[in-house]
Order: sequence, then C-alpha cells, then structure tokens
Amino acid sequence: MEQIVINGGNKLYGDIYIDGMKNAALPIIFACILTGDKCVIENLPPVSDINVSLEILRSMGAGVRLLNKTTAEIDTTHIVGGTSPDDLASKMRASTYLLGAELGRFGSAKVGAPGGCDFNSRPIDQHIKGFEALGATYKLENGHICLDAENGLKGTTVYCDMISVGATCNIMLAATLAEGTTVIENAAREPHIVDLANFLNTCGADIYGAGTNTIKIRGVKSLHGCEYTIIPDMIEAGTYMAAVAATGGRVNIRNVIPKHVESITAKLTEMGVCVEEHDDYISVSSNSRINRANIKTLPYPGFPTDMQPQFAALLCTAEGVSTVSEGIWDHRFQYVNELRNMGAQFMVEGKSATIIGTDHLSGAKVKSVDLRAGAALVIAGLAAEGQTIIENLQTLDRGYYDIVGKLRGVGADIIRRPIIKASSNHLAK
Ligand code: EPU
Repeated sequence: MEQIVINGGNKLYGDIYIDGMKNAALPIIFACILTGDKCVIENLPPVSDINVSLEILRSMGAGVRLLNKTTAEIDTTHIVGGTSPDDLASKMRASTYLLGAELGRFGSAKVGAPGGCDFNSRPIDQHIKGFEALGATYKLENGHICLDAENGLKGTTVYCDMISVGATCNIMLAATLAEGTTVIENAAREPHIVDLANFLNTCGADIYGAGTNTIKIRGVKSLHGCEYTIIPDMIEAGTYMAAVAATGGRVNIRNVIPKHVESITAKLTEMGVCVEEHDDYISVSSNSRINRANIKTLPYPGFPTDMQPQFAALLCTAEGVSTVSEGIWDHRFQYVNELRNMGAQFMVEGKSATIIGTDHLSGAKVKSVDLRAGAALVIAGLAAEGQTIIENLQTLDRGYYDIVGKLRGVGADIIRRPIIKASSNHLAK
C-alpha cells in the first residue's frame, strides 16, 4: 500500500510526455480476438487496466508477449471463447468488450460481471440491444452474461437510445465479421471510436463513418493481424493541462493530438490560461489566478466527463463562483468531500455543483475514490498550501502511468512512498 505526498505551491516548468490512450487501447486489445492472428500493438499505456486486459487474453489461451514497456505482441490463434476468469473481468469495465469480440469470432460469448469506476449504475442495455438486433440471444446465468448466435450474426440497423462509447465499440466488434451491413445510428464520436475502427480496418475490416454519428460496417469473412499504434491519451493530456493552470508556470505537453483536446483548450482559454497549439504538442502557461467558468460535460466533441473532477478541482482555486453540470454519469461527484477537506467550497445538487473559488486550498490527508477523482486530488494538492497525502492509489494506477515522475520532472514537490501503518511501527519498537 502506497501514498502520494505533495508539498503544494510549486509552479511547473518543462515538458511532459503523454502515453497512449487507455480507453482506445482497451477495445483494441480485445478486438485482437477477432483476428485469430498475431497483432503488434504499440503505444500501450503501462497502466493496470492494460495489464489486466492482457492477463485476461493470456488466461484464455492467447500468446501475449511484451516486446517493450509499451508494445505487446498478441496472438489470438488458439484463444478459447467463454473462458475469461471472473476475478479479472470484475476488475474493469472494459471486460464487456469481450462480449462483442467473442460473439464476433465464435458466435457465442460468456463473461462475468464487469467492474470499473463506481458511478452507481452502469447499465449495458444498449450493448445487449445491439447484439440482439444482430441475431444473438442473451441470458444471465450464474452471474455471467451469456450470448448465443446459433444462426450466425446478420447485419442490420441499430439505433442507440443514448450515445454510448462502450455500446458503439461493442456493436462494431460484433458486426465486423457478421453477414451483411450493420449501421450504428446515434453512435459515439470519441477519438477512441475512430481508433478502434482504424485498427479493425487495418486488419481487413470494412468500417466507414467512425467519428460521425452514423457508422457503417460491411461484414467481412475474416481479419488478419497487423501492427498498430494507439493514439495519445487526450484525458491524460487534459489532466496535465489543468495541473499547470492550477499551479501556474509553463509546460509543453508533448505527444498529443491538439484537435482531441479542443474542448479542454477552449475552456482553459476562457479561464484566462494561455494555450498554444503546435503540431504534436501544446504549451500551457499561466501566471495569475484563473477566472471562474461554467462546465457541462457531454459526449465528444463536448467537454469530456473524464475531465470533470480535474476541472472541478481547478475551479476550486478560481476567482468567483463556477458551476459544473455532469451530463453523462448520475453519480460522478463522490470525490467532493475529499476536496472539502482541503478547504474547497462545493455545493452539490443531483448532477450539478456550484463551486465558490478560494485562493487558499490547504493540504490534507485524502482518499482517491476513482480514477479521475484521484487525478483531481493531485491537482488540488499541487495548488494547495502545505502537505497533501493521497491514498487508495490503485484507482489512479488504472489510468495514469507514473503521474508522480512526470510531475516531479516539471518541478512539483511530489513523491510516492509506502504507507507505514501505526501498528507495524509499534511492533517494530
Ligand atoms: N449507458 C446506458 N446503457 C448502456 C450504455 C451506457 O444507459 O448500455 C449510459 C451510461 O449509464 C452513461 C452513458 O450512457 O450514463 C454513457 O456511458 P458509456 O457507455 O459511453 O460509458 P462506458 O463505455 O461505460 C467509457 C469510458 C469512461 C467514460 C465514458 C464516457 C472506457 C473503458 N470507459 O465508459 O471512462 O467516462 O465512456 O465517455 O472507455 C474513465 O476513463 O475514467 C472512464 C470512466
């Protein structure tokens, strides 16, 4: 068990390099199942969700070899459908991608209940609706989600009732090897949807329109392996952009696609932060207290829900009163008590919050309740006076590689150390 210790107040200067995007890499790793061949995936972020995904494939009989820290060779020739271990599947939400991938490759799927960040309810009815429209039957058996397409999958039009990243990816996975053409209407448009389509097309799929709200998938008979590089993580980039805005200083955030962070750039600019876009990096600089702002999270290209906690932390330090309205998840304010412990003035009502900015957050001992909440606490700790200690780091490790090293590299006073329990101290004496 470890904790992060931050002595706040340092301005940040230098360069931060962004890793590959977790939420693009996850569906692509599971999409390898459809190829029944060898794929080499580059720019995988070395975070725990990726390790768990690779471990799931390995335990199902895939050959998985790490060629270096960010490149994996995945050979799914001999993988056996329906054999993912429940304890691994329950560690993350992305194990739902096994449903579409197994169904597409084997005509059936069996997966234990998925886990992931806890936002109260995370239904998968739209995934199931899509699979059923393609010809699969669905049942829950001893806590497992089971799908069966006895007569094969047949292309059709699926209209998603709401915009869902997971359902769009999963229907795309199932439809790639189906007979005929599938059209996904009201599809998600996130860059990771485009990345999954690009990966599948590189493997021989015929997918058109990813990045718009209508995706057309013409089923093909088989796929082949390929080499593929995952896009940079726009949420990791946005997190460091918010950190610089909170502390002041000047940082070049490198290995990013500036277009993907446009909504974040626009909001920071509105707050008085200077953001300069270059080909593959962004310079963020700030020398004064940020202005208040209103934020509403929406599906891409709107402001991302996965940046909501980090920006809420930033707005705690703004001049004036800000509002944050969560448009995707019903319960994504579970972190506010931790920020209140640091002096933030935060009122939450349902899916909206009002934040009264203060110029003196103060360090405290806090707990990360989920992945982006952990990042928000890091940002608050960097901006606060005094020492902040953050625990429950396994939440943060799911999606940020070496956040401590990257921030220390630009001048933050931040370390990660083992938690020394009072009782073991006592025994040692
Ligand atoms: N929804 C349904 N039914 C469905 C699917 C979704 O009602 O069948 C609802 C959800 O309850 C939610 C909304 O639709 O209110 C959007 O959910 P979506 O399916 O888009 O989310 P997801 O695929 O489960 C991914 C990311 C999340 C990110 C959301 C939204 C992964 C592994 N997870 O989740 O990322 O918040 O999209 O952009 O890609 C994170 O990285 O911190 C994270 C939580």
